[in-house]
Amino acid sequence: MSSFAAIVLAAGKGSRMNSDVHKQYMNLAGKPVIYYSLKAFSDSPVDEIVLVTGVGEQEYCRRELIEKYQFTKVTHIVEGGAERYHSVYQGLMACANAEYVMIHDGARPFVTQDIICRAMEDVPRSRANIAAVPVKDTIKMTDETNCVTDTPRRDRLWSVQTPQTFETTLLKNAYEVMMKQEDADITDDAMVVERYGGYKVHVIMGDYRNIKLTTPEDLLIGEIFATEKNG
Ligand code: CTP
Ligand code: MG
Repeated sequence: MSSFAAIVLAAGKGSRMNSDVHKQYMNLAGKPVIYYSLKAFSDSPVDEIVLVTGVGEQEYCRRELIEKYQFTKVTHIVEGGAERYHSVYQGLMACANAEYVMIHDGARPFVTQDIICRAMEDVPRSRANIAAVPVKDTIKMTDETNCVTDTPRRDRLWSVQTPQTFETTLLKNAYEVMMKQEDADITDDAMVVERYGGYKVHVIMGDYRNIKLTTPEDLLIGEIFATEKNG
């Protein structure tokens, strides 16, 4: 049997949320935002979960999340780093023995069992996949003066989500090359594999509800989704 680890990222500062409390700990329909992703992976077939937190937050997370909600699949709580890719790297070091790894934004509470299972079923063949949904808006490219230079075909554009799922060695090797150059453009894990692993990443269907809570208005819709989920 293949082994799967999920790395749940919660080491960000949530600067675009403009809140005193880091967004992953904000209350969403009675539970902290990060609770929902930990619950989703706990209820899924993954074997272990690595939680990546901010500096000095490990003890708090152990007490207020892992013990309180009995998330027994959580095997490690590790400290993240300054950029998202530093946090991913720390998480990877903690579960390097798993055959496959799923990287998930803790700020994306509405990941579904369907998405997780789709990713797990696809990865033995694709070796690298990302959840994404077709874009609904027309997307424009512009130059530095905000003049439109291109309108890519909408039927080829995807809005990328997490989880992003990889053969662990493929992702780890690509990260190792990237970390030597500290590529600041990196915004997701697939980019690391595309640029430094020389490998084509497969897109699998995500869900329009699998939103990332990024700016304050996302909390309004998040509250509705969470209330429905807690049902
Ligand atoms: N993340 C992380 N470590 C970082 C930066 C981000 O673990 N150094 C995590 C966040 O906690 C979040 C996910 O990566 O779950 C997606 O990042 P993003 O939405 O950008 O969150 P923040 O970086 O916290 O927010 P912002 O960019 O607005 O500061
Ligand atoms: Mg960020």
